[in-house]
Amino acid sequence: SSNQMWGGRFAAGPDAIMEAINASIGYDQRMAAQDIAGSRAHAAMLAAQGIITDSDANTIREGLLTVLSEIDSGTFEFSTALEDIHMNVEARLKALIGEPAGRLHTGRSRNDQVATDFRLWVRDQLDAAEKGLLALISALVDQAEAGADWVMPGFTHLQTAQPVTWGHHMMAYVEMFARDLSRVRDARVRMNESPLGAAALAGTGFPIDRHMTAEALGFDRPMANSLDAVSSRDFAIEFLSVASISAMHLSRFAEELVIWSSAQFRFVTLSDRFSTGSSIMPQKKNPDAAELIRAKIGRIFGANVALMMVMKGLPLAYSKDMQEDKEQVFDAADNWMLAMAAMEGMVKDMTGNRASLEEAASAGFSTATDLADWLVRETGLPFRDAHHVTGALVALAESKGCDLPDLSLEDMQAQNSAITDGIFDVLTVHKSVASRTSYGGTAPAQVRAQVARWKEVLK
Ligand code: ARG
Repeated sequence: SSNQMWGGRFAAGPDAIMEAINASIGYDQRMAAQDIAGSRAHAAMLAAQGIITDSDANTIREGLLTVLSEIDSGTFEFSTALEDIHMNVEARLKALIGEPAGRLHTGRSRNDQVATDFRLWVRDQLDAAEKGLLALISALVDQAEAGADWVMPGFTHLQTAQPVTWGHHMMAYVEMFARDLSRVRDARVRMNESPLGAAALAGTGFPIDRHMTAEALGFDRPMANSLDAVSSRDFAIEFLSVASISAMHLSRFAEELVIWSSAQFRFVTLSDRFSTGSSIMPQKKNPDAAELIRAKIGRIFGANVALMMVMKGLPLAYSKDMQEDKEQVFDAADNWMLAMAAMEGMVKDMTGNRASLEEAASAGFSTATDLADWLVRETGLPFRDAHHVTGALVALAESKGCDLPDLSLEDMQAQNSAITDGIFDVLTVHKSVASRTSYGGTAPAQVRAQVARWKEVLK
């Protein structure tokens, strides 16, 4: 039998394979609440404009609430033959209220309907992402405050570079996640326009009020061009792009936690709550949550590319290709939210190992730059020459198997006679970090200032 929604010109129903490739109800049922909100707003507007009667609108709006409660309670029977969430809801509405249900689709198409539902869904995810990022930022600020003056190695090329503070390292991620947050907020502003009333592609001759439905659904305004409204998915691609950038930050931090929690580094101890054991090696405590964050991020990047590939060859306006937008966004959103929550949990629970961090901080001649800076400041040597003298002292210490502060004053003076024992004041890691007081530098005083600024923002 032919389709009850669009089967007027069809003598035969679809092949089973056609039904399988065509149906989206398996996943777009996640937009049920948005679909019903959109339809309720549309029905109210149709009545306000005198296009349907108040009594029909009320019956429709009540009936839609019944459908929603059936879906929420799990008693709703989704049908693949009815393709998608839009037709599943409308068919059930018809069964519940009869004839008035057929008036709901006046001046509307599934094309503007799906675009509306999907925007509402993505908007909710942007709001959830904002909350998730704020929670993560706040956990990082707490870590930074606790260890504002703990020293640890700062790396470039993953080789010891200069000592930094634990708090400074945590606050670096705060800055990254804060930019992600600002991208989330920007994307929300740009996407918050209503496609509803664009109808199939050209608008409608019914005297609809698109401003009214836009306002009822929390949009800032109706979209200005009906062709654009039904055929654009850049809002979803922007969501995936914002998610991808933030996921990249999550993945970098996850990678650091994997390295830091190893026996070779011992920089952090992850809590039991965010670790797993091995079924053969009894000593193991594995950073699985961090590893899975690092891995899941690939799905988000993949979704971003996949949706751009879907869209890049589509002529205006709607094409069925666009139905492939939702699974990508759903999967990416789920994994982004999960990764953010897991990272927040790990950060809250983790313990920075102050003693290991400090021990590692002084390894690898990490105060060599401080030595060179001292030569410049105290003896007037040009930096390039000071660099050379320091390099020779590093080579000497290396050959003796000792650290820079362990060299004797005589050894130092053999390289440059102007050196005095004042040099030993700058060779400790604590002196080194305390001296880096330039704005944004690693000195505990700078870190505390940034922590204070963020606590004000988060209040
Ligand atoms: N399930 C469809 C989608 O997700 C709804 C829109 C269908 N429109 C159409 N003209 N067939 O895109």
